[in-house]
Amino acid sequence: MNFSSLPIVLPSPLQHLSSPSFSKNGVNIWVKRDDLIHPDISGNKWRKLKYNLLRAIDEGAKTIITFGGAFSNHLVATASICHELNMRSVGLVRGEIDEKNPTIQFCRSKGMSLLAIPRGQYRDKMSCDNTLQMISAFSHPFVIPEGGTNDDALKGVGEIWEELEKQLDEIDYIFVASGTGGTAAGLLKYCTTAVKVISIPVLKGNFMYDAIMRWNHPEKRDQLICMEGYHFGGYAKSDAVLEQFMDEFQKESSVPLDYVYTGKAMYALMDLIDKNYFPKGVKIVFLHTGGLQGNKGKAYLDEKKK
Ligand SMILES: Cc1ncc(COP(=O)(O)O)c(C=O)c1O
Repeated sequence: MNFSSLPIVLPSPLQHLSSPSFSKNGVNIWVKRDDLIHPDISGNKWRKLKYNLLRAIDEGAKTIITFGGAFSNHLVATASICHELNMRSVGLVRGEIDEKNPTIQFCRSKGMSLLAIPRGQYRDKMSCDNTLQMISAFSHPFVIPEGGTNDDALKGVGEIWEELEKQLDEIDYIFVASGTGGTAAGLLKYCTTAVKVISIPVLKGNFMYDAIMRWNHPEKRDQLICMEGYHFGGYAKSDAVLEQFMDEFQKESSVPLDYVYTGKAMYALMDLIDKNYFPKGVKIVFLHTGGLQGNKGKAYLDEKKK
Protein backbone atom coordinates (compact mmCIF):
# COMPACT_ATOMS: atom_id res chain seq x y z
CA MET A 1 0.00 0.00 0.00
CA ASN A 2 1.33 3.42 -0.66
CA PHE A 3 -0.14 6.67 0.47
CA SER A 4 0.59 8.56 -2.73
CA SER A 5 -3.10 9.17 -3.40
CA LEU A 6 -3.58 10.94 -0.05
CA PRO A 7 -3.76 14.75 -0.16
CA ILE A 8 -0.70 15.10 2.07
CA VAL A 9 1.77 18.02 1.83
CA LEU A 10 5.30 16.67 2.24
CA PRO A 11 7.91 17.79 2.95
CA SER A 12 6.10 20.16 5.27
CA PRO A 13 7.20 23.79 4.78
CA LEU A 14 9.90 25.36 6.92
CA GLN A 15 8.97 28.94 7.78
CA HIS A 16 11.57 31.42 8.99
CA LEU A 17 10.32 33.80 11.69
CA SER A 18 11.89 36.94 10.32
CA SER A 19 10.29 39.70 12.37
CA PRO A 20 12.82 41.45 14.68
CA SER A 21 10.90 40.43 17.81
CA PHE A 22 11.64 36.79 17.01
CA SER A 23 15.31 37.24 16.25
CA LYS A 24 16.20 39.13 19.41
CA ASN A 25 19.17 38.02 21.49
CA GLY A 26 20.81 36.71 18.34
CA VAL A 27 18.71 33.61 17.73
CA ASN A 28 17.30 32.35 14.42
CA ILE A 29 13.98 30.52 14.49
CA TRP A 30 12.22 28.42 11.90
CA VAL A 31 8.85 26.70 12.31
CA LYS A 32 8.55 23.26 10.76
CA ARG A 33 4.93 23.53 9.64
CA ASP A 34 3.72 19.98 10.13
CA ASP A 35 0.33 21.58 10.86
CA LEU A 36 0.10 22.12 7.08
CA ILE A 37 0.56 18.43 6.16
CA HIS A 38 -3.24 17.96 5.99
CA PRO A 39 -6.14 19.85 7.58
CA ASP A 40 -7.11 16.91 9.83
CA ILE A 41 -4.20 14.45 9.70
CA SER A 42 -1.80 17.16 10.69
CA GLY A 43 1.31 17.60 12.77
CA ASN A 44 2.68 14.65 14.62
CA LYS A 45 -0.45 12.63 13.82
CA TRP A 46 0.58 11.90 10.23
CA ARG A 47 4.09 11.11 11.42
CA LYS A 48 2.84 8.72 14.09
CA LEU A 49 0.09 7.01 12.12
CA LYS A 50 1.90 6.35 8.85
CA TYR A 51 3.86 3.21 9.79
CA ASN A 52 1.11 1.98 12.12
CA LEU A 53 -1.34 1.98 9.24
CA LEU A 54 1.12 0.40 6.83
CA ARG A 55 1.61 -2.38 9.37
CA ALA A 56 -2.16 -2.74 9.88
CA ILE A 57 -2.72 -3.07 6.13
CA ASP A 58 0.16 -5.52 5.84
CA GLU A 59 -1.33 -7.67 8.61
CA GLY A 60 -4.71 -7.72 6.87
CA ALA A 61 -6.49 -5.63 9.51
CA LYS A 62 -10.06 -4.64 8.75
CA THR A 63 -10.70 -2.27 11.65
CA ILE A 64 -8.42 0.30 13.24
CA ILE A 65 -9.21 0.74 16.92
CA THR A 66 -7.72 3.46 19.05
CA PHE A 67 -8.31 5.55 22.16
CA GLY A 68 -8.59 9.18 23.11
CA GLY A 69 -10.19 11.85 25.22
CA ALA A 70 -13.32 13.68 24.10
CA PHE A 71 -11.29 16.38 22.29
CA SER A 72 -8.52 14.14 21.02
CA ASN A 73 -6.43 15.23 18.02
CA HIS A 74 -5.42 11.60 17.62
CA LEU A 75 -9.04 10.42 17.21
CA VAL A 76 -9.67 13.14 14.62
CA ALA A 77 -6.60 12.16 12.61
CA THR A 78 -7.31 8.44 12.83
CA ALA A 79 -10.94 8.93 11.75
CA SER A 80 -9.83 11.10 8.86
CA ILE A 81 -7.04 8.91 7.53
CA CYS A 82 -9.15 5.73 7.82
CA HIS A 83 -11.89 7.52 5.88
CA GLU A 84 -9.39 8.44 3.14
CA LEU A 85 -8.10 4.86 3.03
CA ASN A 86 -11.57 3.31 3.12
CA MET A 87 -10.87 1.49 6.38
CA ARG A 88 -13.22 1.06 9.29
CA SER A 89 -12.26 3.01 12.41
CA VAL A 90 -13.36 2.73 16.01
CA GLY A 91 -12.61 5.27 18.73
CA LEU A 92 -12.81 4.26 22.36
CA VAL A 93 -13.51 7.51 24.15
CA ARG A 94 -12.64 8.34 27.73
CA GLY A 95 -15.81 9.11 29.70
CA GLU A 96 -19.17 9.99 28.21
CA ILE A 97 -19.76 10.88 24.55
CA ASP A 98 -21.26 14.33 24.09
CA GLU A 99 -22.83 14.43 20.62
CA LYS A 100 -22.55 18.24 20.47
CA ASN A 101 -18.79 18.22 20.97
CA PRO A 102 -17.23 19.29 17.62
CA THR A 103 -14.48 16.63 17.87
CA ILE A 104 -17.05 13.86 18.33
CA GLN A 105 -19.12 15.29 15.47
CA PHE A 106 -16.09 15.35 13.20
CA CYS A 107 -15.14 11.74 14.01
CA ARG A 108 -18.71 10.62 13.33
CA SER A 109 -18.75 12.53 10.03
CA LYS A 110 -15.73 10.47 8.96
CA GLY A 111 -17.53 7.24 9.79
CA MET A 112 -15.72 6.43 13.04
CA SER A 113 -17.71 4.28 15.46
CA LEU A 114 -17.41 5.69 18.95
CA LEU A 115 -17.75 3.74 22.17
CA ALA A 116 -17.42 5.21 25.65
CA ILE A 117 -15.07 3.75 28.24
CA PRO A 118 -16.03 4.70 31.80
CA ARG A 119 -13.46 7.01 33.37
CA GLY A 120 -12.73 4.49 36.13
CA GLN A 121 -11.68 1.87 33.57
CA TYR A 122 -9.76 4.14 31.23
CA ARG A 123 -6.42 4.02 33.00
CA ASP A 124 -6.20 0.21 32.65
CA LYS A 125 -8.01 0.13 29.33
CA MET A 126 -5.55 -2.19 27.61
CA SER A 127 -6.06 -4.93 30.21
CA CYS A 128 -9.63 -4.38 31.37
CA ASP A 129 -12.20 -7.08 30.40
CA ASN A 130 -14.75 -4.56 29.20
CA THR A 131 -12.32 -3.02 26.67
CA LEU A 132 -10.94 -6.36 25.55
CA GLN A 133 -14.49 -7.52 24.88
CA MET A 134 -15.24 -4.36 22.88
CA ILE A 135 -12.11 -4.92 20.77
CA SER A 136 -12.76 -8.61 20.16
CA ALA A 137 -16.24 -7.80 18.83
CA PHE A 138 -14.60 -6.43 15.64
CA SER A 139 -13.18 -8.64 12.93
CA HIS A 140 -9.42 -8.36 12.27
CA PRO A 141 -8.85 -5.45 14.66
CA PHE A 142 -5.59 -3.52 14.77
CA VAL A 143 -5.13 -1.55 17.96
CA ILE A 144 -3.12 1.68 18.02
CA PRO A 145 -2.31 2.89 21.55
CA GLU A 146 -3.60 6.20 22.87
CA GLY A 147 -1.64 9.08 21.36
CA GLY A 148 -0.27 6.61 18.81
CA THR A 149 3.10 6.25 20.56
CA ASN A 150 4.99 3.05 19.69
CA ASP A 151 8.06 2.02 17.64
CA ASP A 152 6.23 2.60 14.36
CA ALA A 153 5.28 6.10 15.48
CA LEU A 154 8.85 6.96 16.39
CA LYS A 155 10.05 5.78 12.98
CA GLY A 156 7.53 8.11 11.28
CA VAL A 157 8.64 11.04 13.45
CA GLY A 158 12.25 10.26 12.49
CA GLU A 159 11.44 11.15 8.88
CA ILE A 160 11.28 14.80 9.93
CA TRP A 161 15.08 14.77 9.99
CA GLU A 162 15.29 13.59 6.38
CA GLU A 163 13.20 16.62 5.39
CA LEU A 164 15.06 19.06 7.62
CA GLU A 165 18.46 17.96 6.31
CA LYS A 166 17.39 19.20 2.88
CA GLN A 167 15.79 22.39 4.21
CA LEU A 168 18.43 23.76 6.62
CA ASP A 169 22.09 23.13 7.52
CA GLU A 170 23.04 22.14 11.05
CA ILE A 171 20.29 22.84 13.54
CA ASP A 172 21.28 23.52 17.15
CA TYR A 173 17.93 22.97 18.88
CA ILE A 174 14.57 21.47 18.04
CA PHE A 175 11.59 22.44 20.18
CA VAL A 176 8.53 20.23 20.66
CA ALA A 177 5.44 20.05 22.87
CA SER A 178 5.14 16.76 24.75
CA GLY A 179 2.14 14.77 25.99
CA THR A 180 3.21 11.11 26.02
CA GLY A 181 6.72 12.12 24.92
CA GLY A 182 6.55 9.94 21.79
CA THR A 183 7.25 12.74 19.31
CA ALA A 184 10.25 14.00 21.27
CA ALA A 185 11.41 10.37 21.65
CA GLY A 186 11.30 9.88 17.86
CA LEU A 187 13.20 13.12 17.24
CA LEU A 188 15.88 12.10 19.71
CA LYS A 189 16.13 8.51 18.52
CA TYR A 190 16.55 9.32 14.84
CA CYS A 191 18.75 12.44 15.05
CA THR A 192 22.27 11.90 13.76
CA THR A 193 23.82 15.20 14.82
CA ALA A 194 24.50 16.84 18.19
CA VAL A 195 21.20 18.75 18.02
CA LYS A 196 19.51 19.30 21.38
CA VAL A 197 15.87 18.23 21.65
CA ILE A 198 13.92 20.52 23.96
CA SER A 199 10.65 19.00 25.14
CA ILE A 200 7.97 21.17 26.72
CA PRO A 201 5.64 18.96 28.77
CA VAL A 202 2.09 20.29 28.59
CA LEU A 203 0.96 18.53 31.71
CA LYS A 204 2.04 18.59 35.34
CA GLY A 205 4.57 16.17 36.79
CA ASN A 206 8.24 15.54 36.17
CA PHE A 207 8.04 12.19 34.41
CA MET A 208 8.69 13.38 30.85
CA TYR A 209 12.47 13.03 30.74
CA ASP A 210 12.25 9.35 31.75
CA ALA A 211 9.26 8.77 29.45
CA ILE A 212 11.30 10.02 26.47
CA MET A 213 14.54 8.27 27.47
CA ARG A 214 12.66 4.95 27.78
CA TRP A 215 12.64 4.87 23.97
CA ASN A 216 16.24 5.99 23.58
CA HIS A 217 19.78 4.76 24.08
CA PRO A 218 21.37 6.23 27.26
CA GLU A 219 24.10 7.84 25.15
CA LYS A 220 21.48 10.32 23.92
CA ARG A 221 20.71 11.57 27.43
CA ASP A 222 22.71 14.81 27.19
CA GLN A 223 20.88 15.77 24.01
CA LEU A 224 17.50 15.85 25.73
CA ILE A 225 16.25 18.78 27.79
CA CYS A 226 12.78 18.80 29.37
CA MET A 227 11.63 22.21 30.46
CA GLU A 228 9.00 21.78 33.14
CA GLY A 229 6.99 24.76 34.29
CA TYR A 230 5.19 25.75 31.09
CA HIS A 231 2.04 23.66 31.59
CA PHE A 232 -0.15 26.63 32.64
CA GLY A 233 -1.91 24.64 35.37
CA GLY A 234 -2.03 21.24 33.64
CA TYR A 235 -3.30 19.41 30.60
CA ALA A 236 -5.66 21.55 28.48
CA LYS A 237 -5.57 24.33 31.08
CA SER A 238 -4.88 27.85 29.91
CA ASP A 239 -5.08 31.41 31.17
CA ALA A 240 -5.30 34.97 29.88
CA VAL A 241 -1.51 35.27 29.61
CA LEU A 242 -1.25 32.25 27.31
CA GLU A 243 -4.26 33.26 25.24
CA GLN A 244 -2.96 36.82 24.75
CA PHE A 245 0.46 35.46 23.82
CA MET A 246 -1.09 33.14 21.23
CA ASP A 247 -3.11 35.97 19.67
CA GLU A 248 -0.13 38.29 19.44
CA PHE A 249 2.14 35.56 18.12
CA GLN A 250 -0.31 34.66 15.38
CA LYS A 251 -0.71 38.32 14.36
CA GLU A 252 3.03 38.77 14.03
CA SER A 253 4.02 35.46 12.46
CA SER A 254 0.79 34.30 10.78
CA VAL A 255 1.37 30.93 12.45
CA PRO A 256 -1.72 29.70 14.33
CA LEU A 257 -1.16 27.82 17.60
CA ASP A 258 -3.36 25.57 19.71
CA TYR A 259 -3.80 26.19 23.40
CA VAL A 260 -3.17 22.57 24.55
CA TYR A 261 0.22 21.91 22.95
CA THR A 262 1.90 24.30 20.55
CA GLY A 263 0.79 27.51 22.32
CA LYS A 264 2.55 26.41 25.51
CA ALA A 265 5.67 25.21 23.69
CA MET A 266 5.98 28.46 21.69
CA TYR A 267 5.45 30.49 24.86
CA ALA A 268 8.31 28.52 26.44
CA LEU A 269 10.58 29.18 23.45
CA MET A 270 9.93 32.95 23.54
CA ASP A 271 10.37 33.05 27.31
CA LEU A 272 13.72 31.25 27.09
CA ILE A 273 14.88 33.65 24.39
CA ASP A 274 13.90 36.59 26.61
CA LYS A 275 15.88 35.05 29.45
CA ASN A 276 18.96 34.72 27.22
CA TYR A 277 18.98 30.94 27.53
CA PHE A 278 20.48 30.42 24.06
CA PRO A 279 23.95 31.36 22.86
CA LYS A 280 24.03 34.01 20.12
CA GLY A 281 23.72 32.81 16.52
CA VAL A 282 22.00 29.50 17.26
CA LYS A 283 19.53 27.92 14.85
CA ILE A 284 16.32 26.73 16.44
CA VAL A 285 13.55 24.76 14.76
CA PHE A 286 10.13 24.73 16.41
CA LEU A 287 8.17 21.65 15.36
CA HIS A 288 4.53 22.64 14.86
CA THR A 289 2.75 19.46 15.87
CA GLY A 290 -0.69 20.63 14.70
CA GLY A 291 -3.69 20.19 17.01
CA LEU A 292 -5.55 23.29 15.82
CA GLN A 293 -8.89 21.49 15.92
CA GLY A 294 -8.53 21.55 19.73
CA ASN A 295 -9.26 25.29 19.66
CA LYS A 296 -12.80 24.50 18.49
CA GLY A 297 -13.19 22.23 21.49
CA LYS A 298 -12.10 25.03 23.80
CA ALA A 299 -14.54 27.47 22.19
CA TYR A 300 -17.30 24.87 22.64
CA LEU A 301 -16.45 24.35 26.32
CA ASP A 302 -16.18 28.10 26.98
CA GLU A 303 -19.61 28.59 25.41
CA LYS A 304 -21.06 25.70 27.43
CA LYS A 305 -19.81 27.23 30.69
CA LYS A 306 -21.65 30.54 30.02
C1 LIG B 1 -0.98 18.77 18.60
C2 LIG B 1 -0.16 17.89 19.46
N1 LIG B 1 1.09 18.26 19.74
C3 LIG B 1 1.88 17.53 20.56
C4 LIG B 1 1.42 16.35 21.11
C5 LIG B 1 2.31 15.58 22.01
O1 LIG B 1 2.80 14.44 21.40
P1 LIG B 1 3.42 13.26 22.21
O2 LIG B 1 2.27 12.54 22.88
O3 LIG B 1 4.06 12.42 21.19
O4 LIG B 1 4.35 13.81 23.21
C6 LIG B 1 0.12 15.90 20.84
C7 LIG B 1 -0.37 14.68 21.45
O5 LIG B 1 -0.78 13.76 20.96
C8 LIG B 1 -0.70 16.70 19.99
O6 LIG B 1 -1.96 16.33 19.68
